[in-house]
Amino acid sequence: MKDILTASWMVEMIRTTTNMYNHGWDERNGGNVSLLLSETEVADYVDTNKVLREIPTGFACPELDGKYFLVTGTGKYFKNVQYAPDVNLGLVRLTNGGETAQLLWGFTDGGKFTSEFPAHMMSHAARLKVDPENHVVMHCHPANLLAMTYVHDLDEKAFTRTLWQMCTECIVVFPDGVNVLPWMLCGTNEIGLATAEKMQTARLVVWAQHGIYGAGKDLDETFGLIETAEKAAEIYMKIAHLPLVNTITDEQMHLLEKRFGVKAREGYLM
Ligand code: 13P
Ligand code: ZN
Repeated sequence: MKDILTASWMVEMIRTTTNMYNHGWDERNGGNVSLLLSETEVADYVDTNKVLREIPTGFACPELDGKYFLVTGTGKYFKNVQYAPDVNLGLVRLTNGGETAQLLWGFTDGGKFTSEFPAHMMSHAARLKVDPENHVVMHCHPANLLAMTYVHDLDEKAFTRTLWQMCTECIVVFPDGVNVLPWMLCGTNEIGLATAEKMQTARLVVWAQHGIYGAGKDLDETFGLIETAEKAAEIYMKIAHLPLVNTITDEQMHLLEKRFGVKAREGYLM
């Protein structure tokens, strides 16, 4: 067996969670990340026949049966991932229709996967239907997106249009826009189901007064997606209280669509 800490996907997970912490998106134990891996990717690093522990998930997700995920632990600080990856991360395989997670590596202090496991797994299932290349679900608490949910209309079209208007390249990075959930109790199957439903039509889902979920093909791309939305929210929070003199017009948005070969969410532009 090769050393799991040298696997490219492990290195990338450690770098990404560290970077998220450094961006201020993950105070204390805030945030969680899950990365879908193939059996081929994990087979060189763990004995897939050696299950360390079986942990009930509390929900069913038959679409993900047999799939492997590297996931952050509940109550764990992103700040610490780089110093003790085997305590703060775990590699699990779902079985029993998604109702059981088999631990193959990690969570060495007896810990378990994030409390937001339902939202992560249900979102993976939803995104895989839209895009079989989707491998990442990421949740964090970026300050400006969060702040924006206190002062901006939570209507998805209005919220999306404001973000698109804040930086020229937003519409290119997230042409599907941003979906929004009202405040809901976190860590539940209910918010998991609601998030997954929103993931069917957009890769970004804002949880009002809490944070954001992003989904994408790899860790870098998903990080970049949230980074772009958070930058736009930052511009908004800098200008929202000032008289607006200029903006990016819908006509200009259409030019961006043509130039970058993207299609804005149906009905979101005039
Ligand atoms: P966990 O520590 O269980 O991952 O929870 C953090 C969080 O952000 C809850 O929404
Ligand atoms: Zn959270």
